Amino acid sequence: MQDFWNQRFSGDDYAYGIEPNNYFRQNIDTLRVGSLLLPGEGEGRNAVYAAKQGWDVTAVDFSVAAQVKANQLAVDHNVEINYILKSLDEAELEEESFDAAAIIYLQLEQDKIERLFEKVFKSLKPGGTIIFECFSEKQLGKASGGPKTIARLYTVSQIRKLFEPAKVSYLQEEEIGLKEGEYRTGKAMVIRALAKKL
Ligand SMILES: C[S@@+](CC[C@H](N)C(=O)[O-])C[C@H]1O[C@@H](n2cnc3c(N)ncnc32)[C@H](O)[C@@H]1O
Repeated sequence: MQDFWNQRFSGDDYAYGIEPNNYFRQNIDTLRVGSLLLPGEGEGRNAVYAAKQGWDVTAVDFSVAAQVKANQLAVDHNVEINYILKSLDEAELEEESFDAAAIIYLQLEQDKIERLFEKVFKSLKPGGTIIFECFSEKQLGKASGGPKTIARLYTVSQIRKLFEPAKVSYLQEEEIGLKEGEYRTGKAMVIRALAKKL
């Protein structure tokens, strides 16, 4: 999988663009600035946006090509981000250290996603916010992006269970129009969620 992502990010263009994800931007803009965790952050579009708003950003990703592009984007925008080049399983995150976390189009297999959520919730402060937008199972077969296997697509009931350590204020499967670079464009079925750690 690491090779796949390094290959995807090897071009000069930013695969998913340099603008932040809309749902991420809408929600991060409502929060008091603090420390932010971005697992599977890729080329840095969300990290750099948040850093420009004053957030202290930690990104985790195992793709060196993504890290290089993210660091360049940060330099271009005159901000700093902390980019941990590790797999999500290996990354060590301090407990109760983040005010917010955002999982944006991180399409992992069931067992990995359970471990990821456990880690993310542990690393969030009580009351910390989690923002989530990923493709749902109904995206399978659509040309607007996402994995070609159902094992890495989500259902609302799965997300409800993963969000058990949190008070959920929003959880919906929605059809949205995506315009995020050449690999993620068109009408798409996604799950969006917003919650605060209990
Ligand atoms: C579809 S991209 C999304 C990037 C970013 N969140 C965005 O929306 O622009 C998924 C990212 O997750 C990273 N990734 C996937 N599995 C990972 C893992 N097990 N550990 C660390 N990073 C991972 C990939 O390298 C890639 O950068």
